[in-house]
Amino acid sequence: MIPERSTTHQRSPPLLIGIPREPQTLVSATPDTVGKLIKLGYDVAVQAGAGDQANFPDSQFEAAGATIVGEDVWSSDIVTTLDTPSADHRAALKSGAMLISRLAPARNDELIAELAAKNVTAVAMDTVPRISRAQSMDVLSSQANIAGYRAVIEAANTFGRLFTGQVTAAGKVPPATVYVIGTGVAGLAAIGTANSMGAVVKATDLRPETAEQVESMGAEFVAIPTASEKSDDGYAKEMTQDQAAAAAKLYAEQSAAADIVITTANIPGRTSPVLLTAADVAKMKPGSVIVDMAAANGGNCELTVAGEVTTTDNGVKIIGYTDLAGRLPAQSSQLYGQNVVNLFKLVTPGKDGEAVLDLEDEIVRGITVTKADEAGSAADILWPPPPVKVSAAPAPTPKAESAEPSGSSGEEAPAKSTLPWKLLAGLLGIALVLASPLAVADEYMVLMLAVVVGFYVITAVTHKLHTPLMSETNAISGIILVGAILQVGSSNIAVAVLAFIAIVVASINIFGGFFVTRRMLTMFEGGN
Ligand code: NAI
Repeated sequence: MIPERSTTHQRSPPLLIGIPREPQTLVSATPDTVGKLIKLGYDVAVQAGAGDQANFPDSQFEAAGATIVGEDVWSSDIVTTLDTPSADHRAALKSGAMLISRLAPARNDELIAELAAKNVTAVAMDTVPRISRAQSMDVLSSQANIAGYRAVIEAANTFGRLFTGQVTAAGKVPPATVYVIGTGVAGLAAIGTANSMGAVVKATDLRPETAEQVESMGAEFVAIPTASEKSDDGYAKEMTQDQAAAAAKLYAEQSAAADIVITTANIPGRTSPVLLTAADVAKMKPGSVIVDMAAANGGNCELTVAGEVTTTDNGVKIIGYTDLAGRLPAQSSQLYGQNVVNLFKLVTPGKDGEAVLDLEDEIVRGITVTKADEAGSAADILWPPPPVKVSAAPAPTPKAESAEPSGSSGEEAPAKSTLPWKLLAGLLGIALVLASPLAVADEYMVLMLAVVVGFYVITAVTHKLHTPLMSETNAISGIILVGAILQVGSSNIAVAVLAFIAIVVASINIFGGFFVTRRMLTMFEGGN
């Protein structure tokens, strides 16, 4: 039984977070994430058997500090779920409670009205704004990443042939060819997986700026001939008629040549576009496989049946599973649970088990669909939130770049524009060396050449690597430490003091550099 507590989540920290048993394989918290919620000051109640299908037994949740409860989990102060709970379970939420879930508010006006009438604070995990700061809470990305991996595993299982090419005594086996349409989070994960299994991978996206990412994952980017403009917000737009015709032709040709086609194309807020018609599928090879990752949203293939595997008359298998992430429940639950923990870190500044929704924060504003009224009447409806400038947008491009062929990276342009400066600086440096009357002095020559070479080396290193590079060069300056240590015992007091200062400053330089690099690497690893 849940311990008695006040009815509104705003009033009596620590609040109780309830983790119900889901009607699917996943669970919204794992023993690991329960421990992290408790560290933030919350009490946690887990419904008996909630983690069974993801291989997290009740005993592990209990060991992490949770209380195991029954159906009364729905009367917790805060309830976290994967998807919108059933009508019965929504009815069991108490006034003033908070529901954290994927709620698809853009398509669910009635649900929003119902939750508001019940005075429930509704937080939609699927509307986290796509800004860098919010990446650690983005459940769409964390689940799409796993789904992309699983799509390839399902394809390989159904394909019935090797992915990797082999040369054996019995003859040559060609590698499988995989074609991915849509190279967002799921598409890139699928490319990486198929590539690591030895397939030859090609991919297309409406957004030509994804070409660089595709190539860095080891695949060939096949551009749509007319889709040469970069998207201005990082998301696909609906195609013009010309683009659609060129794309349709390309998809049909590439699919006919491929063994496996994986489609992931989505336009936010709309039904998925149909990219492969029945006629296109009829031209594909017998035994080839389509994995339609957009099946839940209408499908990218005309023949997809959501949730099922179907075989066409010409022997093409179409996989329409809508639970690809749920087929790897332990990791999907862990990543979803970690996204939830990261959200709680944001809304629990005091680490005291009290959730504070600061609507001035654009992440909090973006996900708060309704906000309960402390007085106990209906909640305020805050949907839709004001638009947020997404970080998925490519970096602003200098005008000169528009002359480049489509598919070139946005990051290359600034590097190219600095070339005349580099050339100028290099020539200036060499002129200084040659023109100087001191050029005869060895030290001067070494210094000037070091300046020129150093300038070229540093400017040739990509910005992302500047911090690690600096920490390495800082470490090289450790030679100062050696010199200072040798001098610190000097009988001359001024020399000893200077040597001591040199030891302190050089140590800050060296260890500080590694400390900053370490912090950067931790940031890249995620918000653990
Ligand atoms: P999505 O699920 O909305 O769409 C998947 C892919 O399909 C997209 O790349 C889209 O351009 C492509 N597509 C749509 N219609 C198409 C068509 N007719 N033909 C070919 N391709 C088509 O995309 P997702 O995975 O949600 O990512 C979109 C962008 O947002 C990516 O650049 C991603 O890196 C970025 N992102 C940023 C986050 C953040 O900053 N917090 C978090 C997650 C993603």
